[in-house]
Amino acid sequence: MFRTLLVFALIAAAATTASAANPTFYKDVLPVLQERCQECHRAGEIGPMTLFTYKETRPWAKSIREVVRTKKMPPWFANPNHGKFVNDRSLSQSEIDILAAWSDTGAAEGSPKDAPAPKQWTSGWGMPVRPDVVIGMKQPFSLPAAATIDYQYIVIPTGFTEDKWVQMVEARPSNRGVVHHAVVFVRGPADKWLRGEAKPFEPWSPPKTGADGKPRQGDIDGFGAEFLTVYTPGNLPDVFKPGQARLIKAGSDLVLQMHYTTNGKPGTDLTQIGLVFSKEKPLERIITVAVGNSRFVIPPGDPAYRVPTRFQVPNDSTILSFFPHMHVRGKGFEYKVQLPGEEMKTMLQVDNYNFNWQLSYRLAEPLKFPAGTRFEFTGIFDNSPNNPYNPDPKSQVRFGEQSWEEMSIGFFDLAVPLDMDRKSFFRRSSPTPPAPRAE
Ligand code: HEC
Repeated sequence: MFRTLLVFALIAAAATTASAANPTFYKDVLPVLQERCQECHRAGEIGPMTLFTYKETRPWAKSIREVVRTKKMPPWFANPNHGKFVNDRSLSQSEIDILAAWSDTGAAEGSPKDAPAPKQWTSGWGMPVRPDVVIGMKQPFSLPAAATIDYQYIVIPTGFTEDKWVQMVEARPSNRGVVHHAVVFVRGPADKWLRGEAKPFEPWSPPKTGADGKPRQGDIDGFGAEFLTVYTPGNLPDVFKPGQARLIKAGSDLVLQMHYTTNGKPGTDLTQIGLVFSKEKPLERIITVAVGNSRFVIPPGDPAYRVPTRFQVPNDSTILSFFPHMHVRGKGFEYKVQLPGEEMKTMLQVDNYNFNWQLSYRLAEPLKFPAGTRFEFTGIFDNSPNNPYNPDPKSQVRFGEQSWEEMSIGFFDLAVPLDMDRKSFFRRSSPTPPAPRAE
């Protein structure tokens, strides 16, 4: 039995080496490009060139070898020792070997007969299907060649006369060169957010002290509306499982928080949001929660300053995904969870956080957790001169919206009962669980 396995293993190894020794574009390289690269390297997406044909790909052979060996491409930052993620883009060693060997052996074309069937993409959208409805900015936003632009909050009425359950959603800027990020919120008809005196961001953290009387270390959320989706370069559209969806109540507005950055020439942007509705009423609602800490001071020069946020939840739920957020001094981010009676466990560890690639990490197996579960999210900052993105290693850095200020926010998506929202998730729903507190 053992011997048979060994023989099989040897044959398998020999087969891989044989095809990797003289790889051709159609037989060996194109399947990898389809599965791992065309998502971005196709017309209308963020990759600077398309990687479909031999003619398009051949000039990049050397460069492809370089970026896959150094793991610069595809962008993915999770430490593989913690957690499994459905959207893990990292290449296997054999995929890296194929691309590198192809480049090293003269980047042969091979025979088109060996090509896989072309992969189908939805043109103009990253979602697998075209949207049922597109809602967007009515007026383009104009940018000068150079300036610092405050976050723009753009309110767009949906005109929906009934509640809508959203199965997929994608935000698409028309000019990705100037959009650092777009966060899309749903403002319900009764929400006061951005009406009258209400400010865009007010850390929402009920009591200022925990049950033990000590000052709280975290701010639970800061926005007066529910999250719908986020656009950042390289992040995927939201596509939920059947039975799970986000809610847009009748009469809601979408509110876009746009972070525009100028890029040396004047330009305009018109961001659009594509929605695909659930065919049936879902069983669970998806909400996004943001938990952060806004009371830190990063000392000048510190190469690894840790900003932890600790909190406990008063309700049962299921965690689906994570989205760490820091600015240019962000170096790493950790999400840890401690189920009642168990050890603290790392669910995601991002080792080389990159401000230009803000990604969601979607759990292969969503984690159900009971009331009383503790979480610890930690942003790690490099304020030393060794950080090439650091605008000023001599400064003390505090919380703020602009890139030279910092944030340490752990976003995460939860599946909750249909009648629960972001705030009621943090409220005690029965007498037994402990009150919410970020300690
Ligand atoms: C999530 C989107 C995304 C995926 C997936 C992706 N790329 Fe890229 N790629 C980009 C973007 C954006 C750039 C330009 C910015 C940069 O270099 O970081 C880039 C740059 C490159 C470059 C350098 C181009 C230059 O101008 O020097 C190469 C080569 C490359 N990608 C190859 C690949 C290969 C091969 C794959 C698949 C194994 C891949 N990429 C997957 C988005 C992506």
